[in-house]
Amino acid sequence: MSTPVIELRGTTRRYDEGPPALDDVSLTVGAGEAVAILGPSGSGKSTMLNLIAGLDRPSQGTVTVDGTRVDGLSEAASARYRRAKVGMVFQFFNLLDDLTVADNVTLPALLAGMRRREARSRAAELLDSLGIKRLAAAHPARLSGGERQRVAVARALMNRPTLLLADEPTGALDSASGLEVRQLLNELHADGQTIVLVTHDLALAEACATRTVRLVDGHVAADTAMEPVR
Ligand SMILES: Nc1ncnc2c1ncn2[C@@H]1O[C@H](COP(=O)(O)OP(=O)(O)OP(=O)(O)O)[C@@H](O)[C@H]1O
Ligand SMILES: [Mg+2]
Repeated sequence: MSTPVIELRGTTRRYDEGPPALDDVSLTVGAGEAVAILGPSGSGKSTMLNLIAGLDRPSQGTVTVDGTRVDGLSEAASARYRRAKVGMVFQFFNLLDDLTVADNVTLPALLAGMRRREARSRAAELLDSLGIKRLAAAHPARLSGGERQRVAVARALMNRPTLLLADEPTGALDSASGLEVRQLLNELHADGQTIVLVTHDLALAEACATRTVRLVDGHVAADTAMEPVR
């Protein structure tokens, strides 16, 4: 396998109540893989993604991303890790409605210390390559779902993340917008981006994953290589 980007080893996340949300999961994801995490509601998909993103800590086991242990980082270090290595896309976009599209996309780079001029030019480039350049001055509230998700993907890619994480990126979209986002993720994968996405959308998994991991009750129930569809 190529260089591992993600390594989970015996990773468990337990809450006070109930069985573990994630139970002793070991998983390696290589550079350039596109992995779809599937499974029923409550099976631990978002929990796994949040652990990889450093948004949550395991109760047991380790999470290593790009050679660095991320399970024990302080909050500040964890925020730095996310800015440097991780791009995230969510079901409900999480865009700032008071900012323009261009400013939403530029923000992560400014937070990471990039000069404003350079950030603006990278944002313009990204908006162009994602087909939403004409929306740069608009506010997210007036965009369609598919357009908003493209903006969210542009923002996620701003700092050239090692890893793109997406939790139900088509979950709030109609089928046409969902198709746009599927194609977009597929293109990013073709360009070599490592992607882990959580989805209930089998069409999305089939369109852009090279591998599916099925979670059931916090365990990996299946880990399957997909035939390329192209
Ligand atoms: N903060 C929390 N406190 C207690 N239990 C939690 C918490 N977050 C998640 N859980 C529990 O952990 C389990 C896994 O949740 P998780 O959100 O990872 O599921 P999921 O697979 O993403 O589900 P869905 O498809 O509905 O998004 C669930 O039983 C959930 O109730
Ligand atoms: Mg979830």
